[in-house]
Amino acid sequence: MDTKQLNRLLEKLDSIAVIGLGYTGLPLALRLAEHFSVIGYDSDLIRIGQLQQGIDSNQELALSGSLNLSSLFTSDSSLLANANVFIIAVPTPVDQRKEPDLSYLKEAVEQVGKFLKPGDCVVVESTVYPGCTEEFCAPILEKISGLKLGEDFAMGYSPERINPGDTVHHIGAVVKLVAATDLDTLDFLTQLYQHVTEAGVHPCEGIRVAEAAKLTENIQRDVNIALLNELSAVYEKLGIHPGHVWEAAATKWNFLPFRPGLAGGHCISVDPYYLLNSINKIGGKAFIVEEARRVNEGMVDRVASQVIQHLQSKAEGVSKKRVLIVGASFKPNVRDVRNSKPVELAKLLIKENIEVDIIDPLVDAKHLEHASGVLLTDQPNGSYHVVVIAVNHTVYKELGESYFCDCTFSTSLIIDLTGAFKDVIRNRKYWTI
Ligand SMILES: NC(=O)c1ccc[n+]([C@@H]2O[C@H](COP(=O)([O-])OP(=O)(O)OC[C@H]3O[C@@H](n4cnc5c(N)ncnc54)[C@H](O)[C@@H]3O)[C@@H](O)[C@H]2O)c1
Repeated sequence: MDTKQLNRLLEKLDSIAVIGLGYTGLPLALRLAEHFSVIGYDSDLIRIGQLQQGIDSNQELALSGSLNLSSLFTSDSSLLANANVFIIAVPTPVDQRKEPDLSYLKEAVEQVGKFLKPGDCVVVESTVYPGCTEEFCAPILEKISGLKLGEDFAMGYSPERINPGDTVHHIGAVVKLVAATDLDTLDFLTQLYQHVTEAGVHPCEGIRVAEAAKLTENIQRDVNIALLNELSAVYEKLGIHPGHVWEAAATKWNFLPFRPGLAGGHCISVDPYYLLNSINKIGGKAFIVEEARRVNEGMVDRVASQVIQHLQSKAEGVSKKRVLIVGASFKPNVRDVRNSKPVELAKLLIKENIEVDIIDPLVDAKHLEHASGVLLTDQPNGSYHVVVIAVNHTVYKELGESYFCDCTFSTSLIIDLTGAFKDVIRNRKYWTI
């Protein structure tokens, strides 16, 4: 891969395929399509049908303008034969045992392998463990295509760093990491990705470095959140209001503005396991990473105990116990419910025979029910013994104390996992982390 090939792409003589058009692949395909001929491929027919009609069900992007959406998006894999650069952005979750689930990646790589030609380049954008691109993906490509990495085709890795729901840190505003199997390809990809972001491209010293950098970013967040989750439990035992501690500590210039909370989703609560799996496989240990996961995974139980403790207390002398969970997505301002901890909390409380309503104006009720079996309620319905404010959506900023008083009894407990209502709730028992 070299400048000549970049020029062919810019002249639209060659094409780029983006495989997997979700939160990561869609914005990338749209950015690339501003400069290059792009084949946006996804195996989900419903997703493709919607995208062709200009609908992004993730509600992250407005699909309008001059693009011909029906020719940009396809579920016809045979069109991949027309591509020279393949960028893979499919899910990389963990399985039940918290081991990397590479099934989507394997399928996508196999698909690409069928169409790989000499001179092509395959870039992985999915989050993976260090070594996965060269040791897991490359052999599959070589086997299916009969071509040789380094001789016939090149590979690259460029992790995505967008933050769905965040209009500031969009794809064009974030520095892109790139890495490649050889220097010419690194140069080629650096120039290619400069068309994707205005924030610049950082070429990495090898693919494993870029793979590890992506994991490091999310592990650092996980560890910091775990530390505050642990400290909040410590301060509670010591009789100190944790919210007031964070507020006071944050006045120091080098205090990192993390908050305790439910670390769910498909990045922070998944990526550390990719690294743990790698190090455990060679008999090593990453104690802090492991412990942070344990602390954060324990948060749903901690909140559930708080709910149950209150419901069992004399204050609630009724047999029918009702809980309202405010917020169902895994983080603020998104409709994404993958690994959602509020949903996990709802399921756990329902198992305890507690009546749970969960509300979220951003989340699609049908999708939530399909993904988790949990039913979404439109509005608070009657009075609840406990309200758990689980997600700090911007739309909740307008909620005043009367909103919570109207849907609770005078003896009810408000659990505020966001800390946003610490100065708002005055007339109800209030617990925060
Ligand atoms: N969402 C984020 O904020 C984010 C940020 C950084 C990195 N990532 C990483 O990016 C990768 C993708 O995540 P996402 O959030 O975009 O996932 P997603 O579920 O939103 O989208 C993935 C898309 O890939 C499609 N797909 C699955 N298998 C396929 C196949 N074999 N061929 C073609 N299409 C296929 C799915 O239908 C889906 O539309 C993951 O590795 C994730 O960890 C995500």
